[in-house]
Amino acid sequence: MKKLTALFVAAMLGMAAFAEVTYKTVPLAQKIALSESGKTTFLIKGQAVSYPAGNAQMRRNALFAQEFFGLVPQEAAKKKTTPVSLTLGLESENPDAYRITVDKKGVQIQGASESGVFYGLQTLRKSVAGETADTIRLPWAVVEAEPRFQYRGTMLDCARHFFPVEFVKKYIDILALHGVNKFHWHLTDDQGWRVEVKALPELAKRGSRRPHTIIGKNIGLHDPANAIYDDTPEEGYYTQAELREVVAYAAERYITVIPEIDLPGHMVAALSVYPELGCTGGPYFVRPYWGVDPDVLCAGNPKTLEFIKTVLGEICDVFPSKFIHIGGDESPRTRWQACQKCQAKMRELGLKKEAELQTYINKEVESFLSGRGRELIGWDETLEGGLSENATVMSWRGFKGGIEAARLHHRVIMTPTSHCYIDYYQLKNHDHQPLAIGGYLPLSKCYSLEPVPDELKPEEQQFILGAQCNLWTEFVSSPDHAMYMLLPRLAAIAEVQWLRPEEKNFEQFTGRLAELQTLYRRLGYKYCTTFE
Ligand code: ACM
Ligand code: ZN
Repeated sequence: MKKLTALFVAAMLGMAAFAEVTYKTVPLAQKIALSESGKTTFLIKGQAVSYPAGNAQMRRNALFAQEFFGLVPQEAAKKKTTPVSLTLGLESENPDAYRITVDKKGVQIQGASESGVFYGLQTLRKSVAGETADTIRLPWAVVEAEPRFQYRGTMLDCARHFFPVEFVKKYIDILALHGVNKFHWHLTDDQGWRVEVKALPELAKRGSRRPHTIIGKNIGLHDPANAIYDDTPEEGYYTQAELREVVAYAAERYITVIPEIDLPGHMVAALSVYPELGCTGGPYFVRPYWGVDPDVLCAGNPKTLEFIKTVLGEICDVFPSKFIHIGGDESPRTRWQACQKCQAKMRELGLKKEAELQTYINKEVESFLSGRGRELIGWDETLEGGLSENATVMSWRGFKGGIEAARLHHRVIMTPTSHCYIDYYQLKNHDHQPLAIGGYLPLSKCYSLEPVPDELKPEEQQFILGAQCNLWTEFVSSPDHAMYMLLPRLAAIAEVQWLRPEEKNFEQFTGRLAELQTLYRRLGYKYCTTFE
């Protein structure tokens, strides 16, 4: 009878059919208590959504409610209720926690802070993913969730290929949809320098351009001179105004942008503009091919630190993030071994091995960043010559670096290639796949990531701040391709970031994923439609 009534109401309201809302989204909320009454409340386009008066972030959240559900924002007023309300004051130590209550009073989304309300809105949005009707039937329920990790990251490499601001914003939208709160932006590399530095105008102007790019995986029998290149210049950089625009856009979605200036390796684009900063003096050219380059910043040249501080000073001006990523990965030491300036520096500092030169740079950088109220984060190679005092380590060559750093009581982000490198193939059979860097990282493997290793003691485990997936773009040159690599693997990583191991279940996850994919389609996101 109840069902018949509902169908009758549906017919009256001009709806074809009701999709059953279960609130089982990705990432899954820890508590979904459906009312035994079986009653429902209608979410109707044009209804009012209230938010606490004078709170700009909550007003912005209400505007998201307008975007997602067609609601009309209004400030909350005493003695006046609205069908949908966004409120603060949820008691939880986790600022990202939220509770959605659907009952006779309507729909209330309450957060422990503004970010919690935002995640509640996203969950409601995903709960009604397939529903395009003006009126949506919501079963009475209480839904509660909070993320397991405070650091929930995703990286995009915009150095190997340049992605326009418009797409970067779309990428951020996708991260927000999945409850990610850190956007790690890889901005500089051997193949392109993509940030404006006002004190060094030539850096982005010339360092952001390469005349052509190697085609596919022909490596000229390991000799780039014999490789085959396309005829298409790759160029582009972000002005500081654009960078600020992206930072603000992300902040509205509770995402911190962590910029990465990769040093002292992965610096050939910069060396092409300032060859005096390299050990050999060059000449250098912006690399049109991939791989680890032997040419790095000269650690013995005082101008190198000057350069780094000039760049990072402006980076700190533009990016409010506490963490500033300084890369540190894949920086060969062969040039340092053969460089008189570097060797003299080692003697001056009493260093025994070249790896310690990198630590010397990192310590200088850390102290500079600390003066700006910032902290250094780097890839796990930063462990090799000894970590600087406050460094946070991004463990990518497996879990080993992260374990070592946590044992030293340094903070850690887990992003091992085995589970987090979404530039790898996601299906075993490559026949119908766009070119990838190699490897094999199926959805199930992403999902199986456990960022907190068993071998750490409980007090060491606390140093694992979270996990992140990385999209390197050597072989990804278009927004559609980038989305295809990202989705749906980000959905799996999102459950790793939000759920405890005992709350995860791959089978059930794939069921919930189907509904999320409906939303992907509605939003025009490209994704891999099958999974392994
Ligand atoms: C890295 O993948 N080189 C951090
Ligand atoms: Zn040198």
